[in-house]
Amino acid sequence: MKIACIAGARPNFMKIAPILEAMKPYPNLDSLLVHTGQHYDYQMSGVFFKELEIPEPDIHLGVGSGSHAVQTAKIMMAFEETALEHQPDLVLVVGDVNSTLACALVAAKLHIPVAHVEAGIRSFDMTMPEEVNRVLTDDISDYLLPPSNFGRENLIKEGISEDKIFVVGDTMIDTLFKFRERAEQTSILTELGLKAKSYALMTLHRPANVDIKENLIAILDAIERIQEQIQIVFAIHPRTKSHIQTFGLSNRVAAMSNLRIIDPVGYFAFLNLMINAHFVLTDSGGMQEETTVLGIPCLTMRDTTERPETIEEGTNTLVANDTELIVEESLKILNGNGKRGTYPELWDGHAAERIVEVLHQQLV
Ligand code: UD1
Ligand code: UDP
Repeated sequence: MKIACIAGARPNFMKIAPILEAMKPYPNLDSLLVHTGQHYDYQMSGVFFKELEIPEPDIHLGVGSGSHAVQTAKIMMAFEETALEHQPDLVLVVGDVNSTLACALVAAKLHIPVAHVEAGIRSFDMTMPEEVNRVLTDDISDYLLPPSNFGRENLIKEGISEDKIFVVGDTMIDTLFKFRERAEQTSILTELGLKAKSYALMTLHRPANVDIKENLIAILDAIERIQEQIQIVFAIHPRTKSHIQTFGLSNRVAAMSNLRIIDPVGYFAFLNLMINAHFVLTDSGGMQEETTVLGIPCLTMRDTTERPETIEEGTNTLVANDTELIVEESLKILNGNGKRGTYPELWDGHAAERIVEVLHQQLV
């Protein structure tokens, strides 16, 4: 059985790594690792292959950046050729990026079964490109592998047959547990001159926050006030970096003396920064899960989340791009009232093993 495993953008790499590892003990499962090239900078892609011990991709589609239509279409055209040439028995996609939907769609049209890791999660906000990718990918998948019961319930409500759904847990958390100790050994705090718990860690990249000038300004207004209370380390995504420049906000950002902007960093350094942060400010999907498992308070600058467990059980709070709310919740944390919590039972570091067990049972 040949399983084409697809990865293309930063959050895919943490999700695919443990699955490739879990396939190793099964002599009758062969992986064909396909990198679409959606992300291509070393700090957005190569570093994760090195650190997470992901083998070199068997195929690199090299599609690069583009509008949604261009990027999705380019991945589809390139992956169709790959699928026809290599004839995989299954295409395994993870997450909700354009690479996920593009490869699932190619497979479905070629009558190759599709497995979707992270199926069923929903923000119920179809203005998010990821929500479109999730709904469509799930609809054409044969094996749906949600991280928790929330995903399962959504899929059932959408009419997906129960016998295709296997709640397996969260592979991003497998990676977190596997590399946590290694991450703690990095010297990133010393390199940046930081002391544990003396800074807030920030990331930002959702189009709704960074592609619309007034929304980006509303967030910067909050950041300006928070950095007066605590240093903020901002690992800036290339999309955000470019918008700060094109919107003419570079000087404003540079004037915030306690805001430290760094390039995106590798997984080990970033995990270390998360573990030692006083709190996290983000609009990332995956970081909501990671902070919940690490027990670090997280303020998510979005109106909705497709990961409600992180709010109901975990350390996450939604603050949208509402200046006052972002500042208010940050001050609450600084005053010692940060959220504590737990996390779903199956986020236990063994999700990938369960995924491979399910696929082996179903396919072989
Ligand atoms: C994508 C995903 C998003 C995910 C995010 C993770 C979609 C629709 N979006 O958003 O769900 O949360 O990745 O980081 O798939 N760029 C570089 N170097 C790179 C990659 C991108 O400079 O290695 C720049 C390019 O200018 C590009 C822009 O970033 O146009 C956006 O990249 P793209 O992959 O289209 O979307 P993301 O915002 O990264
Ligand atoms: N991450 C990283 N370096 C960084 C920023 C994030 O390694 O500079 C990791 C983070 O810990 C998580 C993943 O990247 O594992 C999340 O990716 P991102 O926020 O880009 O995507 P999303 O989860 O929002 O789809």
